[in-house]
Amino acid sequence: MPPPSRAAASSSVPSSAASGAASSAPIESSSPVLGREADLEALARQCSACQRCPLAQGRQQVVVSRGNPRARLMLIGEAPGAREDALGQPFVGRSGQLLDQLLAAAGLDSNRDAYFCNGVKCRPPANRKPTALELAACRPWLQLQIALVQPQVVVLVGATALQAVLALKGPISQLRGQWLDFEGRAFLPIFHPAYLLRNGSNQLGSARELTRQDLVAVRERLLQLAGQLPAN
Ligand code: URA
Repeated sequence: MPPPSRAAASSSVPSSAASGAASSAPIESSSPVLGREADLEALARQCSACQRCPLAQGRQQVVVSRGNPRARLMLIGEAPGAREDALGQPFVGRSGQLLDQLLAAAGLDSNRDAYFCNGVKCRPPANRKPTALELAACRPWLQLQIALVQPQVVVLVGATALQAVLALKGPISQLRGQWLDFEGRAFLPIFHPAYLLRNGSNQLGSARELTRQDLVAVRERLLQLAGQLPAN
């Protein structure tokens, strides 16, 4: 992904999030970045008028984010579905509910410990995968979100998010669970919960069980970064 700072510099959203080292528990940034919420609100306002790609024609609303803008953990998905489009928040449908449950099982609270967003902010027709053009058109918004929220750990939810953010293509079954360090942040690809809903097994080695392990690793990484757990 091109440096977020380029996107921040070329946008009219004021960016006060130049640096963002975070430290202590709960799993939330403790660095006082004045204006972060205001900047994110400005971003959401601008985003809601976005006409950068044809997805604008079919949307009910632009789906920008949910969760805690001061969390040290960001989860990036693919695109809003029908429920997200109706409610204006990412990951509030069946996939989101499962993701919330898996996060909770790993000791992470979706409202307190995480900030959710997507690679594209408008629902693609019939929930199809966003095109490369749509992802590229939406990328500056995502870059701004990253620059403003300053997450230490970014979970890439599914193959599309992995491609949208790190331009990495490959079988998610091979890439999930592998930490990738980029521009001072730790990225972890995981299976998309929609895939887990289609593959319900909880057995050892199942996609669901692997995702549970991945999210436990996310919590451990956050605790290590906060100095609350020794590094491996
Ligand atoms: N809902 C979202 O907001 N994003 C996804 O990727 C899937 C469902």
